[in-house]
Amino acid sequence: MAGKVIVIAQQKGGAGKTTLAIQLAVAWQQMGKQIAMIDVDPQGSLTAWRHLRDSSVGKEEGPGVDTLSGWRLGNRLSKTSSDADIVVVDSPPHAETDAKAAVRAADLVLLPIQPTMLDLWATTATLALAEAENTKALLVLNRVPPRSLTANAVATEIKRKKWPAARARLGNRQAFAASINEGKGVIETARSSMASKEVEALAREVLRKLR
Ligand SMILES: Nc1ncnc2c1ncn2[C@@H]1O[C@H](COP(=O)(O)OP(=O)(O)O)[C@@H](O)[C@H]1O
Ligand SMILES: [Mg+2]
Repeated sequence: MAGKVIVIAQQKGGAGKTTLAIQLAVAWQQMGKQIAMIDVDPQGSLTAWRHLRDSSVGKEEGPGVDTLSGWRLGNRLSKTSSDADIVVVDSPPHAETDAKAAVRAADLVLLPIQPTMLDLWATTATLALAEAENTKALLVLNRVPPRSLTANAVATEIKRKKWPAARARLGNRQAFAASINEGKGVIETARSSMASKEVEALAREVLRKLR
């Protein structure tokens, strides 16, 4: 499975793009995959995590992060994807040129979505973008509270719309942010936590989708 490109995209800011990118990349690396990451978001959060990791874990430890703007992405991907099993791209929050370029280059687009109707409506644009670019998409419910009627209603609506969604979900858990605060992923800081198990399940599900 050489050089698959996964773009994390969602027009809505704060949906969990960078969280998902980091947690999945660390999980896949622990499963023995060679991972490269690209930060196309001008906010540079993924890049900042990498800098933190350089000092907290070590410069050679974990996935490398390239920082660039979207129009250079196609060019860079052809180089990066030849020596990685998976390239994870964190994209900017708007369906603008940079996000488009990223979605076009992807084998799979992952769309984190918080379980509210407002977030569901805001997802339409990003799904349409994936469809227009002919790229497979997968919704990932993120920050799901326990026993939430609202979250269940959103999941039902996603089913009704026949939108592609992952079975695995990520709960609303401090452990995700806590690990990122240390330049790590939750699999490294809280191996036996629920958060870690959720990421692992999602990481495996996405790998199956890539086959
Ligand atoms: N599953 C989760 N549980 C708890 N907090 C989360 C979760 N996912 C994201 N967050 C928090 O939500 C905020 C936005 O997440 P972030 O990954 O930066 O979103 P984006 O990159 O889409 O803007 C951050 O404070 C992050 O720690
Ligand atoms: Mg982000």
